[in-house]
Amino acid sequence: MLVYLNGNYVQDGAATISVLDRGFIFGDGVYEVWRVVRGKLFEGERHLRRLQRGLGELRITPPALADADELPKIARRLLTENGLLEGEATLYVEITRGTAPRSHAFPPANTAPTVFAMAKPLTLHHEVRAAGAKVITTPDVRWLRCDIKTVQLLPNVMAQQQAVEHDALEAVFIRDGVVTEGSHTNVFGVIDGELRTHPQNHFVLPGVTRDVVLEVAAACGIPVRQEAMREQDLERLSELFLSGTTTDVMPVVRIDDRPVGNGKPGPIAQRLYDGLRKRLDA
Ligand code: PDD
Repeated sequence: MLVYLNGNYVQDGAATISVLDRGFIFGDGVYEVWRVVRGKLFEGERHLRRLQRGLGELRITPPALADADELPKIARRLLTENGLLEGEATLYVEITRGTAPRSHAFPPANTAPTVFAMAKPLTLHHEVRAAGAKVITTPDVRWLRCDIKTVQLLPNVMAQQQAVEHDALEAVFIRDGVVTEGSHTNVFGVIDGELRTHPQNHFVLPGVTRDVVLEVAAACGIPVRQEAMREQDLERLSELFLSGTTTDVMPVVRIDDRPVGNGKPGPIAQRLYDGLRKRLDA
């Protein structure tokens, strides 16, 4: 696989970074994942804006790649040379604060960020969508800036591993009795015919798919309340679903071994998935 590292295109096996990279030492960096449909970045600018915002919040100097002119060129070359212009793929970008002697405070201002990008095929799980997924709940032990897409993903990694060990697709975080989001997805419920999702604040990632789902819901006239669901609200759900770049809109039919609604994928999730799919194929 050909990857991009600090301005060069190299085979993944030859792409190496320093052991003193601050991403390795401190998890001091941000990342982004784009969906690519037939060579085109889906919601390219929204993802790029989120990346730029994350860099700004962490005060990492934006590299050339984070430029609206530059990113599409890098993406194009990676997609072309890796044979990914047909079908679906993902583009992953990671930017760290660079390489410097280990010290918690920022390195000198002239330290170049480390910039990495790779593209790989996306496998979609249509059979899971058709049957509906199972999720588990787990305490949200993450820091209080979950709105920044940092590479510090250990709580997400532990939660997802717990999900896998319970034969579940995703782990849904609960903080102070409230549903925040999944380990790599946003979470929506339907209660009394109303779509519910956590409001956009420091407790959840501003999901690009979440935004698209909210736009599709508005266009379909589905009522939406951006107010967090409490744990006890889960009993009243008629539907539950996940949204995310690699997850689409995914209906959930079991949560911690209890059925959601009638235990089958629901009509609202289906309409929102159809709306998302239309946008992906546009
Ligand atoms: N994850 N919440 C979290 C914690 C996430 O990591 C993600 C995405 C989302 C959904 O955001 P979006 O719709 O913009 O993909 C929500 C990516 C896909 C990942 O870590 O691989």
